[in-house]
Amino acid sequence: CGIVGYVGHKSAVPILLKGLKKLEYRGYDSAGIAVLNSGSIDVVKKVGKLEVLEEHVGHKNGGACIGIGHTRWATHGRPSDTNAHPHTDCTGRFAVVHNGIIENFQELRGWLKEEGHSFKSETDTEVLVHLFEHFYRGDLVTALRQVMEKVEGSYAMVILSLENPGQLIAARQDNPLIVGLGEGENFIASDIPAILEHTRQTYILNDGEVVLVTSDQVQVFDRQGNPVHKEVFHVQWDMEAAEKGGYDHFMIKEICEQPKAIRDTLKGRLDLEKKKVVLKEIGLDKEAIERIDRIFITACGTAYHAGLVGKYVIERMVQIPVEVDIASEFRYRDPLITENSLVIVISQSGETADTLAALRMAQKKGARVLAITNVVGSSVAREADDVIYTWAGPEIAVASTKAYVTQLIAIYLLSCYLGQLRGTVSGEQLEEIIEALVRLPGQAEAVLKQQTQIREMARRWAKWEDAFFIGRSLDYAVAMEGQLKLKEISYIHAEAYAAGELKHGTLALIVEGVPVIVLATQKEVYEKTISNLQEVKARGAYITAVAFESDQEIGKLVEETIYIPDTISLVAPVLTVIPLQLLAYYAAVERGSDVDKPRNLAKSVTVE
Ligand code: G6P
Repeated sequence: CGIVGYVGHKSAVPILLKGLKKLEYRGYDSAGIAVLNSGSIDVVKKVGKLEVLEEHVGHKNGGACIGIGHTRWATHGRPSDTNAHPHTDCTGRFAVVHNGIIENFQELRGWLKEEGHSFKSETDTEVLVHLFEHFYRGDLVTALRQVMEKVEGSYAMVILSLENPGQLIAARQDNPLIVGLGEGENFIASDIPAILEHTRQTYILNDGEVVLVTSDQVQVFDRQGNPVHKEVFHVQWDMEAAEKGGYDHFMIKEICEQPKAIRDTLKGRLDLEKKKVVLKEIGLDKEAIERIDRIFITACGTAYHAGLVGKYVIERMVQIPVEVDIASEFRYRDPLITENSLVIVISQSGETADTLAALRMAQKKGARVLAITNVVGSSVAREADDVIYTWAGPEIAVASTKAYVTQLIAIYLLSCYLGQLRGTVSGEQLEEIIEALVRLPGQAEAVLKQQTQIREMARRWAKWEDAFFIGRSLDYAVAMEGQLKLKEISYIHAEAYAAGELKHGTLALIVEGVPVIVLATQKEVYEKTISNLQEVKARGAYITAVAFESDQEIGKLVEETIYIPDTISLVAPVLTVIPLQLLAYYAAVERGSDVDKPRNLAKSVTVE
């Protein structure tokens, strides 16, 4: 989502629309603005592209000098005019735009309804404006602080108020928000590109801060209402760099966003006290789950590789046989689906033609379909019987990174959930997995800190023309994703093999100096993997190992090692894949490829 706010002496509408346009690159499904005219807040919001909104705004509201705007990437509630922001309260005195997720919105909605508020949309955001109305007694800062005390979750929000014509009030928690400082005018935005045309002087807000903005004053307060002194941050980036948040490419930005994406996908789905997984969004109850005798997973590309991890994890935890298929194969092989089958489709975009066709075929055969997708309101999300959303945020680079790790998280959550209901996981196991999941965001951050070292390695990788990735069990599934990343962006030929399978043919290709990446994180097959490592070492392979920190021995056997923080084998893929993404990325940069838009590929493939 994107946020823009303006207060000053110019006409607000064109500034808001232009600001939203600058956020277009992030992807969105609807957009809207609210401006203050004498005596009323006027809202225009439309599903679809910005042009649709522009047409509806027309030349109206030219006199307003204060307003807020929003582009929406749906989370709660499908894309529609009503669900688009800004949202207004019952009296029409306040309008809000919001990025993030209000986790306790159901509970707040219930309470507000009892208090007499009526709701127009299905969004979590709407509770914010009703809460604001509830608490407002003439002071914007106090009311917003009270709202913040009530809500759980993440937000960047801006509120426009009829009774305070020259003021905007805003706050953030776990979602970016900045203030742009102008001359006789000020701006609020979620991202720098929205304001770069007007100013380079900014305040970057911190979590829990509240800001009151007028045309000539910006006051920042902490959660307790104490004034905060902010340093001006001078933005040096040009527009292109600003869109990428200062990173060279979207892909590296998205790789670095993974700790947040993991955290967001876990949010609200773990009961840490009871050590249980809570998936309120899915309708599969104990009875429905008992009936399932077979699970199919189907997807394309990177999502298919997440499915490969899914097979291991679900079979281990849920004790139901799982088959994984590439969607374009699944459709035509007449799989033995019955009413007792559960078909899981995984798709970042939710629009991939082959995946969608597989979903429809499965439903026709009477199976229940559960989707794991990143896009609310996408075709896959609409047509599936159940949906688990990955909260990775918009993924722009063609090569998928943060969507993949969040797909893994969704699989862990689902496996725990099904295991709980079927009684196939013990309380102890659940506790161990939940603790491991909670540690993942911090551990992913630790892996990302090794970027400089990995970049150095990638300089050597860039000279290769072929590479092999080997591993066993879950390491093999990750090896599949590692080789795809390398191929699709650096154009280096790569293959992944189950480590034990090399000797049945491919070992013939391993000669002096051939690069082999060995993943060795799976405890149950560790010794076997090391034997396979020795096989390629004996043929002169140039070996890079990816292993746990505690495994310093492996470093003595190989040319180079990348260490990841220790965790349980089951969730290791989330960490193991990160160095592989980084190596592919830096090798591609070194080779001068068009990283975000590799040749011949598209982000969303809607043809069969
Ligand atoms: C395209 C993209 C891949 C992606 C695949 C599946 O081929 O280039 O990165 O993994 O589609 O996309 P989906 O949106 O269904 O996950």
